[in-house]
Amino acid sequence: MDYKGYIAEKLEINDVEKSTLSDFIEVPPTADMGDFALPCFKLAKVMRKSPVMIAEELKNKFNGDATFTEVSAVNGYLNFKINRENFTAELLSEIESQGDLYGSATIGNGKTICIDYSSINIAKPFHIGHLSTTVIGSALCKIFRFLGYKVVGINHLGDYGTQFGKLIVAYKLWSSEEKVKEGRLKELSRIYVKFHDEAKQNPSLDDEARRYFKLIEDGDEESNKLFELFKTITLEEVDKIYKLLKVDFDSYAGESFYNDKMQPIVDELKQKGLLKSSDGASVVDLEEYGMPPCLILKSDGSSLYATRDIAAAVYRKNTYDFYKCLYVVAYQQNLHFKQFFKVVELMGKEWAKDLVHVAYGMVSLESGAMSTRGGNVVLLEDVIAKTIEKAYKVIEDKNPDLKDKDKIARTVGTGAVIFSALCNNKIKDIVFSYDRVLSFEGETCPYVLYTVARCNSVLNKNQIQDGFTVPTLTAEEYDVIKELGKFKDVVKVAGDKYEPSIVTRYALDLSASFNKFYFACKIACEDQNLKNFRLHLAKSVKTVLTNALNLLGIDTVEEM
Ligand code: ARG
Repeated sequence: MDYKGYIAEKLEINDVEKSTLSDFIEVPPTADMGDFALPCFKLAKVMRKSPVMIAEELKNKFNGDATFTEVSAVNGYLNFKINRENFTAELLSEIESQGDLYGSATIGNGKTICIDYSSINIAKPFHIGHLSTTVIGSALCKIFRFLGYKVVGINHLGDYGTQFGKLIVAYKLWSSEEKVKEGRLKELSRIYVKFHDEAKQNPSLDDEARRYFKLIEDGDEESNKLFELFKTITLEEVDKIYKLLKVDFDSYAGESFYNDKMQPIVDELKQKGLLKSSDGASVVDLEEYGMPPCLILKSDGSSLYATRDIAAAVYRKNTYDFYKCLYVVAYQQNLHFKQFFKVVELMGKEWAKDLVHVAYGMVSLESGAMSTRGGNVVLLEDVIAKTIEKAYKVIEDKNPDLKDKDKIARTVGTGAVIFSALCNNKIKDIVFSYDRVLSFEGETCPYVLYTVARCNSVLNKNQIQDGFTVPTLTAEEYDVIKELGKFKDVVKVAGDKYEPSIVTRYALDLSASFNKFYFACKIACEDQNLKNFRLHLAKSVKTVLTNALNLLGIDTVEEM
């Protein structure tokens, strides 16, 4: 039963939508405060009364309602106590019948969300700095799909710029097709670094690079063939990591895709009187909005990162008619997004308000930060491989007789890497530690996976029967029920706030409440009905934890 919806329906307040009322209703932090509460201060403005008076007045609407065992007005809150046994029976049956769809919704039906994430740069190493955008973006895709939205995942490839001219020059001087096919991204990195070293001595190399970049743009066959080679190599390499992380995209339209879509934008900006020239360059002045000007064309007429982003936004609106377009990009680019969103707004596009920069913090290793050009790069591939290797050792230590240790280590290791990037509020910087992410205690992936395995082991050792009557609940049992009942809201709020960590924290909380129950209440007890009820509780916990982890892109294991 949808208690919040039911309460909202009965409250019936003029000028307040049912869905808004339902959103106001909270689950109090401790069970003695009731099961649901309406903070009446949220209605003080529309009802023009004090919260205390509102609570008293609204209480009367529930006189004689058998859904609740008690409705009370306390300090401006309207508190509801439900019949917990009924609630439990309904909830467990709903979870069991919905299975892997439990927690899903239809609120997004008919709406499309574009999510621009991962958005790697061609011929550059895929390093630990790309972890967050990749896994946050992927989790948001899964969360929004679960909520019923149509999602278009976009890898806005960085495949445009003079660096490709530099690579061609470097390739011609110091590499070959064989070498590139052999050494892959490492070879491309090597010649790129070498180019920068040599160009310090010999600046004419830079002129050559500009010339080759121009050739790419002008459609020169040989230059484009090389460019395609660099692109293919990069995509093949990152695809291995995407597969491990269960990440996929609906579109790989990168920056160069917009080559022929920028001129109309420039024309429109001109026509709307937004373009100003400044030292030969064309800019949109944003002084009035407290920002530096947004560069649209350089003095040589070439486009910029922002020009391509504006063209991409217009293209996405025309192609997908999005409800929202999200950009999962590090906070270092805050200004870029504020600027180009403003330009889109100034162009008179009312949908500019639907562009959202989903910013996140930095990831570094305990050993220190890294830089791309200096060569001191920490590859994501290496981090995942090392985590899997360490996971194998941990598992072997704890459970040497386990079958399929390789496969389990792969799931636990990759899961641990993903979980670490989704565990805290996304804007926080993270320091990655192998030992910490693999610990079985604390806020970790192994802790949650182990809880699933624990449910599974109980269910394997005991025969579960179909029917049961809900007994008078212990505090520990009811805490688990309460957590299970939160999942739908959790998914919705995670979507509303673009914050997968809400799902991650939830998985940790549900695991903690289950483990407390597991140690306080014997599941395989004498009383057959009680035992059966507890087995159903474990089964539901397994289902919901699995659903939560799947939204994050993490597989579960049966045993570990
Ligand atoms: N390739 C860019 C980078 O690595 C990120 C692109 C983000 N997406 C966008 N539409 N600007 O910094």
